[in-house]
Amino acid sequence: MEQNQIEILAVEGEEAFWDDRPDLLAGLRGTPPRVPAYLGYDAVGSHLFESITELPSYYLTRVEHGLLQRHAEEIAGLIGCGRIAELGSGSAKKTRVLLAACVQRRATTYLPIDVSREMLATSARELTTELPGLRVQGLWGRYEAGLAHLPDDEPEPVVVAILGSNLGNTTFEERDALLSKIADTLRPGDGFLVSADLQKPAEVFEACYNDPLDRSAFARFRLNHLTHLNRRFGANFALEYFYPRAHYDSATTTVQAHLHATEDQTVALRELDLELVLRRGDSLNVGLAYKFHRPQFVADVSARGFELSAQWIDAVWQYGIFLFVRSD
Ligand SMILES: C[S@@+](CC[C@H](N)C(=O)[O-])C[C@H]1O[C@@H](n2cnc3c(N)ncnc32)[C@H](O)[C@@H]1O
Repeated sequence: MEQNQIEILAVEGEEAFWDDRPDLLAGLRGTPPRVPAYLGYDAVGSHLFESITELPSYYLTRVEHGLLQRHAEEIAGLIGCGRIAELGSGSAKKTRVLLAACVQRRATTYLPIDVSREMLATSARELTTELPGLRVQGLWGRYEAGLAHLPDDEPEPVVVAILGSNLGNTTFEERDALLSKIADTLRPGDGFLVSADLQKPAEVFEACYNDPLDRSAFARFRLNHLTHLNRRFGANFALEYFYPRAHYDSATTTVQAHLHATEDQTVALRELDLELVLRRGDSLNVGLAYKFHRPQFVADVSARGFELSAQWIDAVWQYGIFLFVRSD
């Protein structure tokens, strides 16, 4: 294999997936109205998300990074390292710890799947510069399109990774469909490496998912959803009439990130032919972070034809990385 190759493939019609009107309409017609998660990651949103990961209170990145640093060698030994696909790879800053351990062993192909073309291009460049022996084939589009694009005629097993507890940024139905799609895509012997933020007291989540007093990373990331809708769908959201706040709903064990209307208002989304009537206090959902109960999570994944092969759990922060293998 040639070294240091980069290729980025549009797997979902270049920019077309951004304009998935039925998907956005279904979200906006919900109660409360919801903006699908990927719409938060235009070029600006992707950078704003990076600034969230730098908040000391955002423990997910720090804890996962620590787990990978401590266990990358062991994980690399277990996963074989020939082909690693990652759903929602973002900057891949943590994944590079694992990829570094992989390329010490053998030539590795990394297939990041993300809606952010900017992040795919930047991370591919950085990774191939830092890690000789790594080939990067970025798949630009949404998860399902990326998974459908993974070649299934290669003898080399593949590992599908979802890090950052990204699997939790979904509704129950989306998660169910995504896990089934992953199970259908993988062949016996392939791996599924997935991190999960586990249940904890509400205060821990509310401190993590809201800005400290001196920072505004979450607020800017959440409000940018509206800027993106204004630009792409001809909407007229006035950002100053929304207050960003996340709360933990213990009934559904989900952090819900909302933009609360600070006054009565009607918003027009011209390209969607839609008007949103919001009363003061109504909210728009711009983010979900499901918190997993470990035994239930392992049972749910196993029920789709996987066996748990290994797990690495940070006992202090109750955050885990789990390796499953697709069974026959
Ligand atoms: C919460 S960030 C996590 C990034 C990285 N995995 C980490 O742990 O820091 C979510 C990433 O998934 C991407 N993403 C979100 N929804 C997606 C979808 N439906 N299809 C493809 N990428 C998606 C975003 O662009 C972003 O890079």
